[in-house]
Amino acid sequence: MWRLASAACAELSAPVAVLNVPALSFNAGSLLRRAGGKPIRVASKSIRSKDVLRAVLAQEGYAGILAFTLPEALWLAADDALTDVVVAYPTADTHALRALAADPQACSRVTLMVDSAEQLDWMAATLADAPPGAPIRLALDLDASWRPQVGGRDVGHIGVRRSPLRSGADAISMTLDIASRKLGNRPLFQLVGLMAYEAQIAGLQDTPRTGNPVADLAKSTILKQIQRSSMAEVIERRSNVVAAVENIVDLEFVNGGGTGSLELTTQDPSVTELAAGSGLFGPTLFDGYSRFSPAHAVGFAAQVVRRPTPDIVTVLGGGWIASGPAGADRSPVPVYPPGLTMVGTEGAGEVQTPLRGAAAAQLRIGDKVWFRHAKSGEVCEHVDELVLLDGGKIVGGALTYRGEGKAFV
Ligand SMILES: Cc1ncc(COP(=O)(O)O)c(C=O)c1O
Repeated sequence: MWRLASAACAELSAPVAVLNVPALSFNAGSLLRRAGGKPIRVASKSIRSKDVLRAVLAQEGYAGILAFTLPEALWLAADDALTDVVVAYPTADTHALRALAADPQACSRVTLMVDSAEQLDWMAATLADAPPGAPIRLALDLDASWRPQVGGRDVGHIGVRRSPLRSGADAISMTLDIASRKLGNRPLFQLVGLMAYEAQIAGLQDTPRTGNPVADLAKSTILKQIQRSSMAEVIERRSNVVAAVENIVDLEFVNGGGTGSLELTTQDPSVTELAAGSGLFGPTLFDGYSRFSPAHAVGFAAQVVRRPTPDIVTVLGGGWIASGPAGADRSPVPVYPPGLTMVGTEGAGEVQTPLRGAAAAQLRIGDKVWFRHAKSGEVCEHVDELVLLDGGKIVGGALTYRGEGKAFV
């Protein structure tokens, strides 16, 4: 794949990022199979290209976008092909909230995520002098982290730190609070959904490969056990919370899961739809899962500009480090030509990345070295378009958010 990509992009300047269309469709099909018949809402943070979002959503089985900011959601929802946009993370953007409230079409297409009365207070204050309009659609974010218990008491927290809502009582109190908020005599909000993302299962590789097989096996055994217990707990708690909320309001959707957990989350009867994004591009952080192996659909190239020693070449740029806890797994990985490794003292550099290995001797000034990114969507923050490849040929381009002049986080 990377050899063909390199040949196809020989005339293009670097940096250049490519999206292999057959690999994308393989991944899209694989996610659908794993979802077991439930629709997949596409996590846009893992894509960051409206062209790609549109193409994926045109396929049966994909429905709606899980966006990451309200300005992004407003921009997406202005497109008649993208009429169902749930913002997965809370917003504190005064201008965007007022713009949403003033736009009845956006109000019917965009749903905001909340998890506390403090956020409702902020929204109510921000919209206090808004002209009468449609209610703001809201969804509750239920914390899906795992808190193992001993003797009825929490003894740990495994998962992300997001929502404070955990129980049916928490969710009911938010539901009643949402219903009580008025602007004049009309309802300010409409509760339409609930989301519970089990990050400790969906976003954590269960078969890490650090190069130490004994440590990797031990870690994998423990992780799989934790994930089994956590999944059982989430399924029971999410179902109970949904049942409690549905005593008060009918929910349009209950969203759960991510690329790493589709076949598990789909077994939760309370979940009506799944979320996924990263599995479409197949970045390196999704190489270590036992249940699936995405095709490597996205890569980027940097160009050789110098040769410090016969077995080292230096490419311009390359330091496209992924977000998350800083560590080697956040670094891009050189994949073509094979056999190149980064120099420990420099890693992937801001403007220079030295690469060592036998292949260095064959590389010439101007040749491209191909990398895979650790995360899915962040690669699109570095280029204006993804070059589309099929059968070793360039078949088009997909503008990234950046290429459309957009930066949302
Ligand atoms: C709320 C939520 N749902 C789902 C996902 C899964 O996204 P992906 O499939 O890209 O890993 C994420 C990722 O962080 C998320 O924050």
